[in-house]
Amino acid sequence: SAHPKRREWRDAAIAAADTAARFITYEAMSHRTLAWEEKSATDFVSRVDVGAEERIRDMITSRIPGIRIVGEELSADARPDEGLVAIVDPLDGTTNFLHGFPNYCVSICIALDGVPQAGVVHDVARGGVLHATAGDGAFVDSSRLQVSTTTTPARALIGTGIPFKDVSQADLYLRQLRRLMPIISGVRRAGSAALDLSDVARGRFDGFWELFLNPWDLAAGVLLVREAGGRVTDLEGRDARLTSGPIVASNGMLHDWFLGMLNEGEGTTTVPAPDPA
Ligand code: IPD
Ligand code: CA
Ligand code: CA
Ligand code: CA
Repeated sequence: SAHPKRREWRDAAIAAADTAARFITYEAMSHRTLAWEEKSATDFVSRVDVGAEERIRDMITSRIPGIRIVGEELSADARPDEGLVAIVDPLDGTTNFLHGFPNYCVSICIALDGVPQAGVVHDVARGGVLHATAGDGAFVDSSRLQVSTTTTPARALIGTGIPFKDVSQADLYLRQLRRLMPIISGVRRAGSAALDLSDVARGRFDGFWELFLNPWDLAAGVLLVREAGGRVTDLEGRDARLTSGPIVASNGMLHDWFLGMLNEGEGTTTVPAPDPA
């Protein structure tokens, strides 16, 4: 499933993410008032998100002929798992960005028929480019990434995303949190799913879960975690796909325990099959 052009695609994604990151940084520092546009009552987008996606789209389509773009702001409806696509979150962590909370990134994944080939997460506020290509490992700049070696839940630091669009998930989410809280080392909600997954890949987080993510939030991060030796599934233990849904990521060793805790007493989900690895 590793395509011979994957490194070329990675380099195009790195260049596009860099262009978008410079644009975002310039806009953040230019002291102009940022216009917040409402997507819904508590969900916002700015012209920076849109401007970043335009720049990424132009650069990717000029460097990779025939590629389709699936992007949050300009082409969210296009199918992420058909043909050659760039799955783009031009600014992941928009709420953080709008508040000046320094945790937001650009996320780009190049996928072929639903299989991620190259992934890039550019940490805009702190700097650092995380990248991976299928079968070749994951890196931050030129250093190889590896998931954590934590096997003791009491020592685990777990990232999460709190449901904010679909409040019907709140009760399940709070039950999961209540089960985990007393037995792990800590929970963090940093506000950018792509950086959360990156933090699993680089061993800062031992695990991460969120009940609903879109393809652009997760695509690059899923490849980073897998290439760093971790595991990413849905709540039932099936390998994560590039479509929307719940995401559970871990260093692999904690995965079955993590799925067990998230599902304990819920009844509706099936018991995960044991990890064959
Ligand atoms: C959001 C962030 C956030 C997650 C939300 C996403 P956006 O993306 O990744 O951490 O909890 O589910 O929608 O809108 O800032 O690109
Ligand atoms: Ca958004
Ligand atoms: Ca996002
Ligand atoms: Ca976004």
